[in-house]
Amino acid sequence: MRKALFSFLAAAALSVASGMAQQAADTVYRFTHGPYLQGLTAQGVKVYFTTSARGVSAVEVRKKGSAEVRRVVDYVDGLVQANNTRNAIPVGGLEPNTLYEYRLSSVPIKRFRLSNNVYGDTITTPWYTFRTDNPAATSCSFVTLSDMHDDAAKYGRLLDRMPVGETDRVFLLGDMLSNFSRPDQPYPSYIDTSVTRFARSIPFVAVRGNHETRGRYARLYGNYVYRPRGKFYGTYRLGDTFIIVLDTGEDKPDTHIDYSRITAFDAYRQEQVAWLRRVVRSEAFRQARHRIVLLHIPPVRRGENRRASAHGPAMVDSLYMPILNREPIDLMIGGHLHEFVYRAPRDGENNFPILLNDNACATLVSVDPAAVFVRTVNQEGKVIFEKKFSK
Ligand SMILES: [Fe+2]
Repeated sequence: MRKALFSFLAAAALSVASGMAQQAADTVYRFTHGPYLQGLTAQGVKVYFTTSARGVSAVEVRKKGSAEVRRVVDYVDGLVQANNTRNAIPVGGLEPNTLYEYRLSSVPIKRFRLSNNVYGDTITTPWYTFRTDNPAATSCSFVTLSDMHDDAAKYGRLLDRMPVGETDRVFLLGDMLSNFSRPDQPYPSYIDTSVTRFARSIPFVAVRGNHETRGRYARLYGNYVYRPRGKFYGTYRLGDTFIIVLDTGEDKPDTHIDYSRITAFDAYRQEQVAWLRRVVRSEAFRQARHRIVLLHIPPVRRGENRRASAHGPAMVDSLYMPILNREPIDLMIGGHLHEFVYRAPRDGENNFPILLNDNACATLVSVDPAAVFVRTVNQEGKVIFEKKFSK
């Protein structure tokens, strides 16, 4: 009996001690998510990360091989971003096609006072590398996938089948979340997996799907990913390849009960028409060698049954396709259907090929001066589609 009591007390003491150790570990100031790169250009990049408590953070950057380190902080209206946990620090003044190293540095604010704050100890990460874009490049490659719906394990398996570390970008074509209902959901859904696989060195671009527009936190999605000009639609250049990203919104009409009368996607899709017309008239678009369009919801296939969920696809067809069909588009890539589909060019409907990833494959796009190559693989690494589109 006495022995049993002793064991019980020893176990209880151990449990209290391990609880205290856990508590101490929880209060240790640390980086909690990231770093992940966004908005990379030939001149700069934005470094995203979070800390476990409020602090002041910086990015230290140096050319690879150089001892000269530049410390970069983010400031707005003269105030350094501080007393915060989520950071997106823009690093500018970089040279094109140059290898850089960077690391994070952060210090917790123990007491924010009227003067002379009390700071804790500085923490840093290891050094990571990235290469700035090369505007003169005549080749590029990128990975596309979509519709993971919070399945980080599947996303990781697909990334493992792609030479992601050797590509220029990863374009996530929407529905990486099923709906944005939990605070900070993008981290466990796909950002943390991106960080461990590639995103410390290679940026991803989040193309919004209809499911990322749902849920109580959907309006905060832009805090987690970079958007050119503050919009989910935009243009990207990888050397002489020009990429148009459209945000196709929801699939059903704005009046559908699912959207609780708080969406305006018809107007939003219309807003992109005027923008798209300007894009295809731009010098950068006209002078590019290759032109690729990325989106989540593809245009409806003409003659198909029109259910409520065909409203968005029908608008994609009626608004954007007449503009794009007049242009020398090499390829359009989308998702949404959870079914792998290749649509060969069909006169007047889609004058260029359309490839739609399903929810369990990834497509590598490799571009050289003569052609655009695509290779689609499933989770087992089996090639399910391969095609070369010559100029
Ligand atoms: Fe979708």
